[in-house]
Amino acid sequence: MSTDWNLLEVAESYEDYEPVRERAFAWAALFEQAGLAEPGCRTVLDYGAGTGRVAAEILRGHDVSVIAADRSPSMLKVARSKRQDPRISYQVIGDDQRLELPDDGIDAAISSFVFVCIPDAEIIQNIVSEVYRVLRPGATYAVLDVNPDSIGVPFEIGRYGEAGRAYAAGEAIEMRLARPGAEPVSLVDYHWPKDAQLDRLRAAGFREVGLVEPTLPADYGGPDQDRMPVERTSPPYVIYVARK
Ligand SMILES: C[S@@+](CC[C@H](N)C(=O)[O-])C[C@H]1O[C@@H](n2cnc3c(N)ncnc32)[C@H](O)[C@@H]1O
Repeated sequence: MSTDWNLLEVAESYEDYEPVRERAFAWAALFEQAGLAEPGCRTVLDYGAGTGRVAAEILRGHDVSVIAADRSPSMLKVARSKRQDPRISYQVIGDDQRLELPDDGIDAAISSFVFVCIPDAEIIQNIVSEVYRVLRPGATYAVLDVNPDSIGVPFEIGRYGEAGRAYAAGEAIEMRLARPGAEPVSLVDYHWPKDAQLDRLRAAGFREVGLVEPTLPADYGGPDQDRMPVERTSPPYVIYVARK
C-alpha cells in the first residue's frame, strides 16, 4: 500500500526519523550542486518540501529566502508549526502540480526524496516541467533521491528494497528507515532508474543534464561516523543536476 503523505500521522512519523546521513553529506552536496552559495542566488524553490527540514537546513548556511511547496497539507502543517521563519514561505500545490509563481523568476530549485515517492511517471514529468517554467534561464534544478542502484545494500540507517530482486520502472519498493530505539519507519517508494529521470529533465527543456553520487567523505569526523561504514564506499543517493 502507498505511503499516504496526506495523513498527519505519516507526517509526524516522518518527522521522528533522524536524517543523520542527509545532514552528514547529502544535503550539502545537493545545495552545492544547485548553486545556492552563488552570489546571484536569492530565492530558492524547495519542491516537495515536506516538514520544512530541508528549507531550514538551507537557511543555516545561505543568505536566501525559500519557497517551500508541497502537495500534502499535513506535511506543511507540521512544517508551519515547527519551522516558522520569515524567510520561508510555504505553499500548497494542487493536483495540477502548478505553483503560484511567475515564469523565469527563481534562482535555484531543489527536491529532496520526492520523485521516489511518486508512482506515476506523468506526475513526475509535470513537476519537472513546472520547475523548469519558474526557474530563471541559467538556473539549476538539483534533485536528491535514493540511489536506484543501491537495492538491498545494508546501509546502517536504511535499506532500499530486497537484495537480489529486480524492480521494474515505477514498481513499488520498500524503504526501511531506521530510528534509534524505535521500530524502523517503513515507506513505500517507487523505483525509477537513472536514465528515466535524466530523460524527463531533458524532455522538460533542461540542458546540461547529469548526475553525481556522493559518498560519505573520508574526512567526515562527525559523532556518528562509525555508524556509516558502507556509506563511504557505496553511494546511497543520487543527485540529478539540470541547468535551464
Ligand atoms: C519523503 S518526503 C520528503 C520531504 C522533504 N523533501 C525532506 O527531504 O525531508 C516526500 C514529500 O514529497 C511530497 N510529494 C509527494 N508527491 C508529491 C507531488 N506530486 N507534488 C508535490 N509534493 C509531493 C510528499 O507530500 C512529501 O512531503
